[in-house]
Order: sequence, then C-alpha cells, then structure tokens
Amino acid sequence: MRILVTGGAGYIGSHTVRQLLAAGHEVTAYDSLEFGHRQAVPAANLVVGDLRDIDHVDNLLVVNRIEAVVHFAAFAYVGESITNPAKYYTNNLIYSLQLLDRCRRNGVQKFVFSSTCATYGVTNTVPITEDEKQLPVSPYGNTKLAFERALADYAGAYPFGFCALRYFNAAGAAEDGTIGEDHTPEPHLIPLVFQAAAGKIPHVTVFGTDYPTPDGTCVRDYIHVDDLAAAHVLALGKIGPGTKLAYNVGIGRGYSVREVIATVEEVTGLKVPVKEGPRRAGDPPVLVADASKIRKELGWSAKYDNLKSILGTAWRWHKTHPNGFGE
Ligand SMILES: NC(=O)c1ccc[n+]([C@@H]2O[C@H](COP(=O)([O-])OP(=O)(O)OC[C@H]3O[C@@H](n4cnc5c(N)ncnc54)[C@H](O)[C@@H]3O)[C@@H](O)[C@H]2O)c1
Repeated sequence: MRILVTGGAGYIGSHTVRQLLAAGHEVTAYDSLEFGHRQAVPAANLVVGDLRDIDHVDNLLVVNRIEAVVHFAAFAYVGESITNPAKYYTNNLIYSLQLLDRCRRNGVQKFVFSSTCATYGVTNTVPITEDEKQLPVSPYGNTKLAFERALADYAGAYPFGFCALRYFNAAGAAEDGTIGEDHTPEPHLIPLVFQAAAGKIPHVTVFGTDYPTPDGTCVRDYIHVDDLAAAHVLALGKIGPGTKLAYNVGIGRGYSVREVIATVEEVTGLKVPVKEGPRRAGDPPVLVADASKIRKELGWSAKYDNLKSILGTAWRWHKTHPNGFGE
C-alpha cells in the first residue's frame, strides 16, 4: 500500500515507518520536525511540512497516490493542554479534521489513528476494555475523543474505514538500539528514570505515594513501541469501507512507579535518586489495558510482555545515545 504517516519522524511514528517499510509498503513520512527527528526515518521517505499547510498535504495525497493514512501527528503534553487548550484543539483537532476531509475528497479509504487511554479519563475499572465509558479529563483527551467520533461519522457516511488504537504507555526502543525515545521536554517516566540513573538530572520525582495501590504509587501498563508499531501494520490489513474499529493496546499488566525505578536499577546496575512529591491532578491510580479484543481480532500479541524486556531495549538506546538524536 501507499501510505502517508503523519508524525512519522516522532517516537512511535518512526518505529512504525520502519515496520511498514519492512512489510513492503511505500511510505511517505510527513513531519514538521517540531518534536520529530530527521535521523529517525530514512531521508528518502521523509517530507518535512506542517499539517497546518493542508494544501501541501493534499498535494502529497494526490501525487503519491496515497491509499492509507496513519495519523500520529499531534501534541501530547497533557499538562500543557490544560493551560493552553487552543494549541491542542488547533493542532490535534482542527488540523486532523482538515486531513480527514482531504482524505475523503481524494479517495483515501483507510485511516489508522493514534488514540489514547487518556480518552477513558479517571476510571476505577481494572483492566479497561474498549466498552469503558470515554470521559476524558484533559483537553488533550477531549481532542483525541472528538477525532475518534469524527472518524466514526465519516465511516458511517462515506466509503471510508478506520481503526483507532488507544495506546497505553509507550516505552522501549528498537531492538538494534538505533532509534528510541527523545522528547524535549521529556514528559514520560521511563526516560526520566534513565536520565536520573545516568546522572543527567538530579533525581526523578514520584508524584503521589498514597494511592490505593500495593506500594502507594501509580500503576501503568507499559507497551513496547515496536509492539505498538506492529498493531498499526495489522490494523491496516483489516480496514475496509465502513470499518469502525477501536482497540486498546497494552500488555495487560501494570507496573507501579516504584517497580519501574527498581527495574531500571536492575537493568542498568545504577542507583536512581528519587524524590517524593504530591499527587498530580487527573492521574488515575491504575491504568491497565484489557487487550483481548486486538489479540482476538487482529492476531496481535506483545512480543515484549514484561517490563524488564522493554526496559532492556530502552537502556541500550539511552546508553548508546546519551543525547538522544543529538540535534
Ligand atoms: N507516547 C505515548 O505513550 C502515547 C500514548 C498515547 C497516545 N500517544 C499518541 O501517539 C502519537 C505519537 O506519540 P509520540 O510519543 O510518538 O509523540 P512524538 O511527539 O514523538 O510524535 C509526534 C510527531 O508529530 C509531529 N507533529 C506534531 N504536530 C504536527 C503537525 N501539525 N504537522 C506535522 N507534524 C506534526 C511532531 O513533530 C512529532 O514528530 C501522538 O498522537 C500521541 O498523542 C502517545
């Protein structure tokens, strides 16, 4: 298939581009490089541009005869979305809706969307199935849910189908250590714990130690970035006109913040300096995926089914790329 991957030079996008190319697809990675990295994708596959320039995107859809779009491009800082919702509604919703409509007008019938467990909001359900009520508690989550709804409406009305993948917490790096996670600023726990272990930041902060969990810290489901990427490749094969799919993608097992820190110490042999802080607003105690639907319907399974194996790949990346992509 001829596929446009928006946000293709970002963390999850670049790993997915690699797998789509390996599966024999023709891939155009489209990225503004605001958060992505030129070196993360083959130069021949990268087009630098911003979704706000919708005519540029439209031209690519036509000239490259695009058959499917995998849409990663978005801003993903939940806290910032609360203080600056306009930035999130504009990039994550308005530009996504424009992209969707250009797909319709140009006959692109398959669409895979990066959704998130943040669309479920604060829930006490463990594990979470796709039937859980989606009640986001941040503008970020609201934009993702609103776009899921637009996709469903388009699939109901036009010759168009989609799959929304609701990721839990992406983690890890390519097995060969050549691409991995490099966000500035870094919002995610695992890279921060590695940075603290390597002495690049003075400590990692544990936000909340009094949650109703076995060790009092938040529990999350960490999914290897290559397992996430594989879900996109499989989803593309399942979409036809009218397809409306939504899948949770996680390993189905949660790890607490303290368990992440202990496993990083085990994998690196280094001590992680830790500071304890108060809870952050909007952090549910436990977020664990029930991923049985994607396993059953797409034949997907997590190759990295435990935290230690995921962190092993992340450590290889951080050790060999102490400054990330070093731009
Ligand atoms: N990382 C996670 O754990 C996680 C969890 C749930 C959902 N998601 C979603 O997955 C997607 C990818 O996440 P990621 O961690 O790889 O983030 P990322 O920031 O590494 O990748 C997003 C990419 O999109 C690009 N981009 C953003 N706006 C753009 C625009 N207007 N035009 C062109 N390019 C643009 C950025 O430059 C970046 O390279 C996002 O949609 C995010 O909301 C991520």
